Amino acid sequence: MIIADHPTALRQYLAGVKQKRIALVPTMGCLHAGHISLIHKAKCLADIVVVSIYVNPLQFGANEDLDNYPRVFEDDAAICKAEGVDCVFHPHDLYPEGGAKITLKVHALDNMLCGASRSGHFDGVVTVVSILFNLVQPNIAVFGEKDWQQLAIIRRMVSDLHMPVEIIRSEIVREPDGLAMSSRNRYLSPAERQKALRLSQALYLMQNDINIGGKAINIIDVGMDNLKKHQVSPEYLEIRHALTLKPENTITSQSRIFIAAKIGNTRLIDNAALFPQTMTNEATP
Ligand code: PAF
Repeated sequence: MIIADHPTALRQYLAGVKQKRIALVPTMGCLHAGHISLIHKAKCLADIVVVSIYVNPLQFGANEDLDNYPRVFEDDAAICKAEGVDCVFHPHDLYPEGGAKITLKVHALDNMLCGASRSGHFDGVVTVVSILFNLVQPNIAVFGEKDWQQLAIIRRMVSDLHMPVEIIRSEIVREPDGLAMSSRNRYLSPAERQKALRLSQALYLMQNDINIGGKAINIIDVGMDNLKKHQVSPEYLEIRHALTLKPENTITSQSRIFIAAKIGNTRLIDNAALFPQTMTNEATP
């Protein structure tokens, strides 16, 4: 496995594998089973797998956890090696000295859900992902469904900017008790870890309660009541169309539930199809 710590080293490596089908798995490190499932998917679909590990300052707001974001490169590199990754791209910085002067701006799909409270976050995400696409020039790139809004926005970027890369999505990986895997789970104390379970529990309760054609608000009440009972106040709990992310007032087969909540100081997100069994490919970003 090659570790490239600079774009030049990455380019040198890529020059030797030009004819091969390349998959990129963009990450910010602190790899867990969710990332490993992205790597597995990438390995199935390409000859060469490049994993990027870069904590992108541009996607963190002023009061967010950039400085404290877990950085465990040795562990990450060991995981990549064990999983048969071909190249880890781990640059010290991807922006010029003095910071990025040219960035991308998202004008759709970002004024709701996480975008509503994280101003500029998705601008930072698409900027770094487009830099990574330019550097790696992958045939495919694999993203997790846990960040559903991110996936929808990246798909839109690739389509609007005619980027020659296919975006592959990969299902959420959960702990046995239902908690969605996240690098931020390691911040949770044992008591917070228990409380964090209420997010996925709310999604399951809502899935169980649903009658197609019913009012979204009734289903939301089911989730909200349970969250309240366990002293969890979500930042949002919403039902939206899986593809357009528009609010769904009436439940349809394309409805998806989105939740975000702060547990202690840790902001967690999760989402699920309201009808997992009827979820079609057209309903995915
Ligand atoms: O999902 C993430 O880990 C990040 O947002 C990404 C896509 C690697 C961009 O920094």
